[in-house]
Amino acid sequence: MKEILLRAPATSANVGPGYDIFAMALKEPYDDIHIKLNDTKKVTIEFVGSNQNIPCEINDNTGGLAIMELFRRYNIRQGMHVQIIKNMTSGCGMGTTGATASGCIYGLNKLLEMNLSNDEMIDLARMGEVASGGSPHADNVAAALLGGFTLIKSYKPLKVIKLNMPEFPVVLAVIKKGQRTTRGFITYEIGEEKLKEQIARCSTVIHAIHMNDVHMFGQAIIVDHIAEPVRGSAIPGYKEVKKEVLEHGACGCNISGGGSSIFAVCEKCDTSKIAEIMERGFAKNPLFEKVIITSTSNLGVREL
Ligand code: HSE
Repeated sequence: MKEILLRAPATSANVGPGYDIFAMALKEPYDDIHIKLNDTKKVTIEFVGSNQNIPCEINDNTGGLAIMELFRRYNIRQGMHVQIIKNMTSGCGMGTTGATASGCIYGLNKLLEMNLSNDEMIDLARMGEVASGGSPHADNVAAALLGGFTLIKSYKPLKVIKLNMPEFPVVLAVIKKGQRTTRGFITYEIGEEKLKEQIARCSTVIHAIHMNDVHMFGQAIIVDHIAEPVRGSAIPGYKEVKKEVLEHGACGCNISGGGSSIFAVCEKCDTSKIAEIMERGFAKNPLFEKVIITSTSNLGVREL
């Protein structure tokens, strides 16, 4: 096998209180990735469609960095050309960088018949995230690779649990980040009361998935004391839109990954109303792109 065409889904990380631990795969949007092995001993990356100013250089691209890490760990050299067929807007907290890194590692695992475990692939793919956020967080790449709802059971060594998720409707307001990453502004000193609430909410998220209860799930993700205070205040209109969608049927609403996209989970019948509120609420924000009505999905990276 010399080439492979893959689809890698968008993911929403953190899912409210699960900073760097929780993520869920979305049915749409997604990017496609085509990897073709060659004899050049060089790795080249190309974007099909707009490259959105994402670097193609190996050491600055999430896919490139992940591939280099695989070469380093397993002492491999292999020429290849990687085409990233972009459907997703990057820099919005939808896990597009994680999708690229996961797709590249999944594809190479197949093409080079490496038989890597899921945890090994996630551990390689997360190294690609350094190119975008400066930190090898594993949440987005885990959900992109495995689909469903993923939780990082341990970072050292890296171990991930995948839960199959009911298909919860998700409304996503795609908003670009004003800056590259806001991770550096997050403070972890949240105090005893908020820490306990955070743990309670994380536990409830897991229980709600097992119970197939979108209302319980939504209630649990409404509050996050770690990333939301920093990121929410940097998104014009966030508080107002969140309040309005919750008053009009959303079960839960929070920031998707590193932001600045916003997601709401709801019953299917409420998706259009929530989409309208988001469209209206963010219309004046120059970084607002569009609203997508989608759902959670148990499909991760897959061969087309
Ligand atoms: N957990 C990461 C963060 C996800 O919050 O920065 C980035 O999409």
